[in-house]
Amino acid sequence: MSLTDDITAAIPGPATPYQGDIARYWDHEARPVNLRLGDVDGLYHHHYGIGDVDQAAIGDPSDSEREKKVITELHRLESAQAELLFDHLGPIPADATLVDAGCGRGGSMVMAHQRFGCRVQGVTLSAKQAEFGNDRAHELGIGDFVRSQVCNMLDMPFETGQVAGSWNNESSMYVDLHDLFAEHARILAVGGRYVTVTGCWNPAYGQPSKWVSQINAHFECNIHSRREYLRAMADNRLVPQAVIDLTPATLPYWELRATSSLVTGIEEAFINSYRDGSFQYVLIAADRV
Ligand SMILES: C[S@@+](CC[C@H](N)C(=O)[O-])C[C@H]1O[C@@H](n2cnc3c(N)ncnc32)[C@H](O)[C@@H]1O
Repeated sequence: MSLTDDITAAIPGPATPYQGDIARYWDHEARPVNLRLGDVDGLYHHHYGIGDVDQAAIGDPSDSEREKKVITELHRLESAQAELLFDHLGPIPADATLVDAGCGRGGSMVMAHQRFGCRVQGVTLSAKQAEFGNDRAHELGIGDFVRSQVCNMLDMPFETGQVAGSWNNESSMYVDLHDLFAEHARILAVGGRYVTVTGCWNPAYGQPSKWVSQINAHFECNIHSRREYLRAMADNRLVPQAVIDLTPATLPYWELRATSSLVTGIEEAFINSYRDGSFQYVLIAADRV
């Protein structure tokens, strides 16, 4: 598949009124927490971080450079999250194609290309995000390898069985999981790898907690349970190879963010739901069989 083959095809945009709402949401999203972290090195993410905070790197609260250091540290943790996702894609040859479903501003796509040397195709509902991601790729001189387009990830403009690896990085809570995994299973080659990093509600807690409901309302999304992920994968030829609970690894990111000037008001809901066990941050890697 070449990057230009599919560019001429009609690109379907939002298919439902809800998807129109989500497209508008991300077209207008410009919170400092999303932009100032990306300004650190030009990799713009809309996802959270994992790993321990380097206390030496952030300095003490009286440090005049503290805020800048905290931003750099939060960004290091969100890029570490993307690297962990790529670890679970397995070996990807340079002539392969990867797909980032719900690609945001494209930071993960740039990182995937830098790591594997391969082509990376991204889809997002937001025209602003696609334009931003494509501009960044051109600035970096990798526009022939990394491309974002506006389309619905439930109906991607890619041929059947041609993709070596695909992922959702915090983007699966906007869609029906059966529809999503059916589409990933269609585009992936047999033996290909699918990875998701996502927040999910914990069936062992019982039902979605008030914190989970608050997060849904804040982001206009619909967080699924861990059980729904595993069931929808099993129904769509995606066999989990790894299920990793990243909740303890993401808490330091949230605790640090809650002390910064970049707070958005949703930090308490994440921290409380991770602590009371109602919400989990997970990575699931699955083989397309
Ligand atoms: C929280 S952001 C994550 C962005 C990116 N994966 C990252 O890690 O920075 C959610 C993304 O999902 C995208 N999205 C939501 N529903 C979608 C759909 N049906 N089709 C394509 N993209 C979708 C949004 O446009 C947005 O880019």
